[in-house]
Amino acid sequence: EGFYLHELDVIDSTNDEAKRLADKGAQSGALIWARQQTTGRGRRGRAWSSPVGNLYSSLLLRPDCPLFEAAKLTFLIAVAMAEAIEMVSGNQIRPDCKWPNDLMVNGRKISGILLESASNDGTQTDYLVIGAGVNVAFYPDDAERPATSLAALGAPTSVKDVLQTYVARIAHWLPIWEAQGFAPIREAWLTRAYGVGEPVIARLTQRTLEGTFVGLDDDGALVLRETDGTEHRIGAGEVFFK
Ligand code: BTN
Repeated sequence: EGFYLHELDVIDSTNDEAKRLADKGAQSGALIWARQQTTGRGRRGRAWSSPVGNLYSSLLLRPDCPLFEAAKLTFLIAVAMAEAIEMVSGNQIRPDCKWPNDLMVNGRKISGILLESASNDGTQTDYLVIGAGVNVAFYPDDAERPATSLAALGAPTSVKDVLQTYVARIAHWLPIWEAQGFAPIREAWLTRAYGVGEPVIARLTQRTLEGTFVGLDDDGALVLRETDGTEHRIGAGEVFFK
């Protein structure tokens, strides 16, 4: 499968641009890259600081599968980006994958992924937009959400290098996903997983669960074990690592 690069100086959000292109019938593989975003978006309605110097990209995919299957591609993307960051740093930096799809270095966030999907019938995937931001030159200064950048970690590089390496890693993993499904991706993700065996708090809409993060299930849900041994699979909601 090929990728079709759309290079932009400035855009509101590469995810929004990808969705506009998708609605106009753009094919799977469209890759939007902007040097700057005016209204970059994070998960849970948060803003994503988007100055020139960091990476902002969104990939449009049209996987021929139900939405719940396509959602697992978020882990493929997290692994691909972790590998890309590691490679461009000359193996100096090994990012951890924090569930569901943040990348962390020494407990500080270096990359975030925002997956958005559309379906025509509520079940089958029409398209998937996978937005990825990487702090290359800069990171936001927020005491509540500590972050870092490649430059701050002593591994300055160009945005284009990160993008090219990331795309190459996606091209590596997509055929594996198509041939073997989620299992090899789950395994690669787990070897980098942040906080396995450690205490975790999940704030769900109905209640809060406290326990230990014991892993990922076959669907990509976080498995939380309470002190009495009860296991919960969490596919949504906010999860905090203590
Ligand atoms: C998060 O960690 O909350 C997800 C951040 C996702 C940011 C990227 S930057 C490229 C793409 N366009 C956006 O507006 N957001 C994503």
